[in-house]
Amino acid sequence: MEENIIKPKYDGKPLEHDFDGIKELNNPIPPWLVYIWYISVIFSVIYFVYYHIYELGDLQDAEYERQMAQANANVEKHKVESGQAALVLLTSSEDLAAGEVIYKEKLCATCHGQLGEGNVIGPNLTDKYWIHGNTIEDLYNVIFNGVPTKGMTPYKGQLSDEKILQVSSYVLKKLQGSNPPNAKEAQGELMN
Ligand code: HEC
Repeated sequence: MEENIIKPKYDGKPLEHDFDGIKELNNPIPPWLVYIWYISVIFSVIYFVYYHIYELGDLQDAEYERQMAQANANVEKHKVESGQAALVLLTSSEDLAAGEVIYKEKLCATCHGQLGEGNVIGPNLTDKYWIHGNTIEDLYNVIFNGVPTKGMTPYKGQLSDEKILQVSSYVLKKLQGSNPPNAKEAQGELMN
């Protein structure tokens, strides 16, 4: 029994150094552990280059933001699909003023003109001709989903239902029927 404690089970030779008669035996760690270590070193280099040098992937915060935006968009979509959002034309002056602010802040004006007159990018929103219709539902849908193939930005995830209704109401109540200078030629069909 005592023999066993003193004599090593492997035939490794003692290392050269010696301290007060205490010798160290060469006892290498198993190869599989060494390989795991090599792999983690290689992995960390790839990780560092990918995320921190070329910044190709989203770090935690950005990924969190992205997933939350996606989740919010899904909530909005679900509300509309399940008919929970009441799509009503808003008429109070507060809502219409809020709609005007959104129209200017959310770059609607860049593509549709400051006064809704239209420009080379977006159609005129002041005439009675509409490509997608002029009910509150029509406007809600076109602003919520956008028309990506035609260059109209989707605002789901960016604007709440209420804000989409405010800006839609602003377009229908304030811009439609106004007569701005430099109005773009009519597109779509004549609506009531
Ligand atoms: C990047 C440019 C761009 C931005 C930003 C943009 N639009 Fe548009 N919008 C378009 C284009 C282009 C169309 C025409 C789509 C088509 O031809 O189907 C359009 C169509 C529309 C329509 C339907 C018009 C019709 O005749 O049926 C409405 C309403 C509208 N946009 C409102 C808005 C509002 C409100 C905003 C801001 C919240 C906005 N748009 C922001 C480019 C834009």
